[in-house]
Amino acid sequence: MSDNSPAKEDNLLKLDSVRKDELFDLIVGNFPVGLIILDRHENILEFNPAAQEITGFKKSEIYGKKCHKVLIGIPCHLSEMKTAGSEEKVLVHAEGTIRHKDGHEIPVRYTAAPLFKKNELKGAIAVFRDVTKEKQLEQHRRVLISMFAHDLKGPLSVAGGFLLRLLQKKAGPLNEKQEKYVDAALKEVTRVEKYIRSFLDIVRMEAGQISLSRELCDLNTLFADILESASMEADQKGIRILIDIPEAMPLIYVDKTQFQRVILNLLDNAIKYSPENSEIKIRCSEHEKNVLITIEDNGPGIQEEDLPYIFDPFYRANYSGQIEGCGIGLAIVKTIVEAHGGKVWVRNKKAPAHGAIFTLSVPKHSVET
Ligand SMILES: Nc1ncnc2c1ncn2[C@@H]1O[C@H](COP(=O)(O)OP(=O)(O)O)[C@@H](O)[C@H]1O
Ligand SMILES: [Mg+2]
Repeated sequence: MSDNSPAKEDNLLKLDSVRKDELFDLIVGNFPVGLIILDRHENILEFNPAAQEITGFKKSEIYGKKCHKVLIGIPCHLSEMKTAGSEEKVLVHAEGTIRHKDGHEIPVRYTAAPLFKKNELKGAIAVFRDVTKEKQLEQHRRVLISMFAHDLKGPLSVAGGFLLRLLQKKAGPLNEKQEKYVDAALKEVTRVEKYIRSFLDIVRMEAGQISLSRELCDLNTLFADILESASMEADQKGIRILIDIPEAMPLIYVDKTQFQRVILNLLDNAIKYSPENSEIKIRCSEHEKNVLITIEDNGPGIQEEDLPYIFDPFYRANYSGQIEGCGIGLAIVKTIVEAHGGKVWVRNKKAPAHGAIFTLSVPKHSVET
């Protein structure tokens, strides 16, 4: 590292012996993934050869420059990495794209963390990997699986059609037991068909083939339809759904059908995972440029170890075993919400209470939209 460093005073890497310096250079130089170190002003202090190879930038070109100005895509904002006023370190693990020097986008997976020295924020460190190959493989696998799912749909519909005809006595009368069995078989076929349809939907959405037809929607109208569809399931379990939409909530600019699907999926989970005769609370509020919708239940909540995964397709927590589902609902929720420029997250109620609180944040309609 040169002595005329623009960020010398913040240089974290001043180590107290030459040998440590050499060791540091050796590690950084040979580190098998991209490594960036920033000072507390978000200037680039270190940029190892792997990082140079991935991005096409030479260290000499970007040394001392503001990270977000040169490395488009990497999370450089220290404010996002620490909780204001706290010593708590916040790791950011994410997937994203980084812009290569020549302008093309490279998919990367990165982890960033703040660097503290004696509780003082001194800078940040980020490691990242080029995941182009993994992405291509993933895409290839996705195409294969979706072709397979698509091909399963045809024979299933045919089987369902025959079962329906049997049930409608088109092939002659059925005794009580036969009717019961055919009815059960038809229900199972319909269920699998539904899973396949949802799966194909998510593949399409993830491939960016989701087209939204947005309109201005009023939350009261939006929820009226939703409550009607959810009430039967809720009534069966004696669950009360309480909804609080303050007056004068702004309109939201969403694809009504898709957005209702999001809320129905969350509500469906809340009902499924709640005990009988409990309450589910839906609240709407405004926060800065967004409308927040929270759905709160009194179920088991989400275990700490499941939290990072529940929005992944087909992920189901252990306790879900007995409860019907295939783990695709939350993946659909996330994809649709993000296509709207929104976010969705979950937290648990504070002990001794238990239950999950899912929050949706969608940009509210403003004059500029
Ligand atoms: N309200 C909730 N309370 C507790 N666990 C939940 C809740 N919503 C979702 N989960 C957990 O997240 C997993 C994924 O949800 P989802 O994608 O909707 O799949 P499914 O409902 O088909 O199981 C569920 O299997 C369950 O483990
Ligand atoms: Mg579900």
